[in-house]
Amino acid sequence: MMNPEDFYYPSKEVVEYATVKSYDDLYQSSIENRERFWEEEARQLEWYKPWDKVLDNSNHPFYKWFVGGKTNIVHNALDRHLKTANKNKLALIWEGEPGDVRTFSYHALNREVCEFANILKAMGVRKGDIVTIYMPQIPEQIIAMLACAKIGAAHSVVYGGFSHEALAERINAAKSRVVITADGGFRRGKPTKLKSIVNKAMEMSPTMEVCITVKRTGEDVYMENDRDYWYHDLKSLPISGHKCATEEMDAEDMLFLLYTSGSTGKPKGLVHTHGGYSVYTSATHRMVFDVKPEDRWWCAADPGWITGHSYMVYGPLINGSTIFMYEGAPNHPYPDRWWRMIDKYGISILYTSPTAIRGLMRFGESWVKRHDISSLRLLGSVGEPINPEAWKWYHETIGDGKCPIMDTWWQTETGGFVITPLPITPLKPGSATKPFFGHEVGIVDENGKDVAPNEVGALVIKNPWPGMARTIMGDDDRYYETYWKRFDDKKYYHAGDSAKKDEDDYYWIIGRSDDVIKVSGYRLGTAEIESAVVSHPAVAEAAAIALPHELKGNSIHVYAILREGREPGKELEREILDHVAKAMGPIAKPEEVVFVDSLPKTRSGKIMRRVLKARALGEDEGDLSTLDD
Ligand code: WTA
Repeated sequence: MMNPEDFYYPSKEVVEYATVKSYDDLYQSSIENRERFWEEEARQLEWYKPWDKVLDNSNHPFYKWFVGGKTNIVHNALDRHLKTANKNKLALIWEGEPGDVRTFSYHALNREVCEFANILKAMGVRKGDIVTIYMPQIPEQIIAMLACAKIGAAHSVVYGGFSHEALAERINAAKSRVVITADGGFRRGKPTKLKSIVNKAMEMSPTMEVCITVKRTGEDVYMENDRDYWYHDLKSLPISGHKCATEEMDAEDMLFLLYTSGSTGKPKGLVHTHGGYSVYTSATHRMVFDVKPEDRWWCAADPGWITGHSYMVYGPLINGSTIFMYEGAPNHPYPDRWWRMIDKYGISILYTSPTAIRGLMRFGESWVKRHDISSLRLLGSVGEPINPEAWKWYHETIGDGKCPIMDTWWQTETGGFVITPLPITPLKPGSATKPFFGHEVGIVDENGKDVAPNEVGALVIKNPWPGMARTIMGDDDRYYETYWKRFDDKKYYHAGDSAKKDEDDYYWIIGRSDDVIKVSGYRLGTAEIESAVVSHPAVAEAAAIALPHELKGNSIHVYAILREGREPGKELEREILDHVAKAMGPIAKPEEVVFVDSLPKTRSGKIMRRVLKARALGEDEGDLSTLDD
């Protein structure tokens, strides 16, 4: 079946260097004895007390992993390394946008985390509390996450690009008492104003009592007595010490909450745990990126998203890697910033998104050629399908034709990679290739039956895995309904993506099949965008759809019906666009607002977004039998 010309084969050197030398046998045994596979992975970590049972599947879909085990992710991400030669290895190299550099060995990072943890305790944070983190990309963001986990508090990181309203909504849903922020960060040469956004959010958050602010930009900020504390002031008090015991946690205790957009209403707070998530993120990171002690790992994501949680912070630190973090914009001050830093720090693995690659590609290869980036040996991609043109540029111009690209498909809900190549896998540009170990995935029709090769269907996962989200916080029903109800009798996890599998059993992700839009890899819900649009006083009703965009992958297009007496026009359009950007954050700003007199709806009143989309693209509108008018 296989046509050798369709593939990019890894070089002999790559195969020889790889730790996992063959896929098929290990894959087969991993699905035949899934629990044994994950148990062996779990044994690579340290546990305060081993588990009694690997998997408790008695209450579908609320699976439990490593039941009875006691651990703390920070024990494996930090404490364990202090007993080995890793103690003096660099854990983190950070470069600020203005060019300032900070580095931390594992020893030094641990001291920082202990100090922050002691401060949190002094502020009354206890095991089980949820602390909200709203930070720029500075080391304290990672330090704060680890400090929470260390004392058994869960963190809820909110992306620093979200508006005060979005932040307040997330603080309130988590009932956070404490928020950690910074005065701002640097982006394109300018300071961002995070603290003032937090101040506004706190006014809308009745549970909020304490705000800890890290000084980064030095801009003036408003601080309120008995509520606002500078981090450096707290650090100088006797409450902060360099030693702090790591809290013993149950394997199933919540490590963090992360909000993500769904097809309806409010964002969902997905719950991840200490035990299974530790095992899953470290195993996937180690095997897929074949990490070795000498690697320098750069996951160019924002810690505010799942990619940052799993593969910037937890997976790599558990594996004792040296991680690199950069604060600012990729083209500041010039479009060679990334290549300059790869050269300077000898980065060996780069993991980023198609949107970032397309953005840098547009500046041309001369910016790349100014630097020696031959330290790179592996590349990665995540967040949306990578178009073959960007894939080839990434492979040839960045990877010099020798670095395999790990196109990893996964979600906030999955905690880590699900469909992904290994360095030894022959690649096809645009395909995430095959399931990771322990996974059986499928493409099914509406009855849950596997479709034929090359037919498009719904992507499902047919088994539980340790890194899976355990629930939506406070809403088990919604968790079941969103992800599991669709194919209940078969117990499949319904991912919400449409995809196909080719004759070589390679998976090709097409995109979201629900009302989620991926803009520059960021996940947004049409429902949230629409409610932001209709909160503008001129708008009566609105629908949002995604249309293909050369750089962003998708862009948001809004159709709006105006209220009586309001006239459409360019001025009003601009006002509505700014209104959405303000309500949700700049990433959610639509491309355009089209003013219409009516929207296509079903008889039950649901907006048929697919009809709007087909019309905008000049495509066939499909079955219109349910259309009301
Ligand atoms: C999309 C990001 C194609 C997909 C880790 C999924 C991808 C959604 C890929 C989850 C990929 C992620 N190829 N599409 N390699 N990776 N996606 O929760 O639509 O922000 O459902 O997690 O991103 O987005 P989320």
